[in-house]
Amino acid sequence: MTPPRSRILGTGRFLPDGVRTNDDLAKMVETSDAWITERTGIKERRVAAPGTVTSDMAAAAGRAALEAAGVSASELSMIIVGTVTPDVPMPATAVFVQQKLGAERIPAFDVSAACAGFLYALSIADQFIRAGQARYVLVVGVELLSRVLDWGDRATCVLFGDGAGAVLLGPTSGEGARPSGVLSTRLYADGSLAEALIIPGGGTREPLDARALDEKRNKVHMSGQEIFKVAVKNLTAATAEAMAASGLAAGEVDWVVAHQANMRILTQVASRLDVPLERFVLNIERYGNTSSASIPIALDEAVRDGRVREGHNLIMCALGAGISWGGAAVRF
Ligand code: ACO
Repeated sequence: MTPPRSRILGTGRFLPDGVRTNDDLAKMVETSDAWITERTGIKERRVAAPGTVTSDMAAAAGRAALEAAGVSASELSMIIVGTVTPDVPMPATAVFVQQKLGAERIPAFDVSAACAGFLYALSIADQFIRAGQARYVLVVGVELLSRVLDWGDRATCVLFGDGAGAVLLGPTSGEGARPSGVLSTRLYADGSLAEALIIPGGGTREPLDARALDEKRNKVHMSGQEIFKVAVKNLTAATAEAMAASGLAAGEVDWVVAHQANMRILTQVASRLDVPLERFVLNIERYGNTSSASIPIALDEAVRDGRVREGHNLIMCALGAGISWGGAAVRF
């Protein structure tokens, strides 16, 4: 008998209503719509309203994924949330999601892998389902980055946005010539680049005090060029590896659902892989970089508008702070 594998049964997303355009940012820092568009491909991003917390967005995306799959929250066996912008340092955002969804007393935990958080969470969920230890696992990627950005730092504040995306993963028999499901996942990290993208304050290394707050140590600090170079190299390798691990040639990939960090990164990855950019699901123009939420948001958009259909071969890849990165192949 073929061992069980996991399959995406439903997708969902939540984007806050508040839109911040490049022109809005040009009123806050020395930048311009032309610079941001040319260097990143971003035109606008979403910013959550003051009362909204991360778990609100995660629960909304999760609810949509459950509804799409026709599965109720009480049937969940696990909730995994990829985020680096939790509601509180302790406990996990996933337990607030559990409460808000009305799920049973199931395992609920967060995964901290920044922009690769969704792929890390997807991979963990896949292992539990393959091992027969879980049935329905809700995998959420969510970020409320607007709260941890220095809105006076033009090198970072123009890049990011808020949002949440979710998939419901469940078991499938894995039988048949072209079974749907998660075909492969591969995860990586290289801590030697940990300082290149970091929120340095607020943990045990630099507990927050008045000086730290004054120096914005609780906000995102980034060495953009360093990240850019390693992103192109490692995303290309992760995507090529996901194709090889699942036996897919470039021509058999229907969609690349990549982390949306920078249009120039995606263009370079596409050309190195020989997969045309038309086969990448793109929404960076409207949402910016939503970190761990970007893949599930892009996937949900493409599923709901009919681009991604049953039987399509998808490659997912992401890289972010850590640096952490990975790739996955999924037959939808
Ligand atoms: N508006 C106008 N000018 C700016 C802005 C801005 N928003 N930001 C930086 N500049 C200036 C710089 O100060 C610099 O000026 P100088 O030449 O007078 O010193 C000039 O523009 C060029 O700066 P660079 O940093 O060389 O610009 P670059 O082309 O590398 O683009 C960017 C910067 C967009 C941050 C790019 O490096 C990048 O996208 N890196 C990847 C970072 C990333 O995506 N991080 C997200 C998390 S990781 C991930 O998701 C992959």
